[in-house]
Order: sequence, then C-alpha cells, then structure tokens
Amino acid sequence: MNEKLISEYYHFTELYDRLIYRKKIGIQKNFTIQELKIKINNLSNIYNKKKGQMVFADGNPKSNLMIIGEAPGANEEKFQRPFVGEAGKLLDKMLSAINLNRDSVYITNVINYRPPDNRKPTSDEINLFLPYLKEHIQLINPKLILLLGSTALEAFFNKEYTITKIRGTWLKIKIKNKVFNCLPSFHPAFLLRQPEQKKQSWTDLQIIRDSLKEI
Ligand code: URA
Repeated sequence: MNEKLISEYYHFTELYDRLIYRKKIGIQKNFTIQELKIKINNLSNIYNKKKGQMVFADGNPKSNLMIIGEAPGANEEKFQRPFVGEAGKLLDKMLSAINLNRDSVYITNVINYRPPDNRKPTSDEINLFLPYLKEHIQLINPKLILLLGSTALEAFFNKEYTITKIRGTWLKIKIKNKVFNCLPSFHPAFLLRQPEQKKQSWTDLQIIRDSLKEI
C-alpha cells in the first residue's frame, strides 16, 4: 500500500481520529471514567438494583463547573440521567438564569442509585459512595463545584455545617493534595417546597456566574 492509500484507510476507518485523539487529549481520561462507571455499577447490590439502574452523570466533562446533587429519583432512574424530574426542570431554569445549560456544566449526584422510597440517603450510604465521588471529581477536575443541598454538603463536611447557615459561602474540599473550591446552595427540590428561598439561591447563582467569569 502506498502512503496515500494508508492515509485514506486510516481516515475511512476512523483509526486516524482515534489515534490522534488519544495523543492530543488522552483517551486515558475517558477510559478511566469508564472504569469508574464499572466500579459504581458494582455497588448496585446496595439497594438491590439492577446494574442498568445506575445514574452516573450528565453534561460536559470538560466544564469548569461540576454540580453535585443528592441521589436520583424515579424519573432519573427511568431515563438514567440526573435531574430530569421537577427538580431538574427547576435546575435547568436556574442554570439558564446565569447563561448555563446542560452542555456547559457537568452534573452528578452523591449517590448513583435511587434510594428505596426516594428516602434521603443515610450517612453510611453517603460514606460508601464518597470515595467514588472523590474519584469522579478528580477525573473531571472542575474549577468550581456547586453542592446542592444538605446531602452533598454532608458528604464532604459531615455534620459540621447546616445548609441554611453555610449556603453562599465558599468552602474548600481537599482531594489528594488538590484543593477544590465549592459553594453550597439550596437543592432545587427544597426550593420547590419553599419558593420563598429562591431569593437566596439567586444570590448564590450570581456568585457562581461571577466566579466563572474570573476563571
Ligand atoms: N435530585 C437529586 O439530587 N438528583 C437528581 O438527579 C434528581 C433529583
């Protein structure tokens, strides 16, 4: 085969893209996210779930902003995508208010399976998923993290803070010598129940918007 034919063959079979892609941005990263998914899939026995019921993440893995919620609900489990129910619709509106959307942020939850009866995850369950969440953060390597609600706050700070008191204040999460800046704020499901708190949430969203501009 001459060089031209070899080159055509590479382009035709997409081998070229795969090799170049691997070289430039490191397929290793995608591969490791895959590995993380496999590990989390193996936790499905915790709630007696089928492996296919895992809700991993949504959005752009290259985003500067990683959003962490609590756990999937029935809709999320059905569509295997975080925040697609009523709380998700509100989250989309909140993001859109600061000119963000699903393609410009990365969204996941502390717990990747829907807890029985949609109950709040226990501290033991949070701690069980925490090492995987930390690995997830390291892989995404976001500049900022938005912690939505008390479960996401508890995952990193135990019961040191309450969401009502600490929301809107930058905190630091250290994972293997790397410090991540995170902002706790109200969970959209809470805002649906207490819409009068949306004012505070808007203040937090503006902090996120302004901080993203400075990156
Ligand atoms: N609430 C969450 O915390 N996460 C979801 O994915 C949906 C609702």
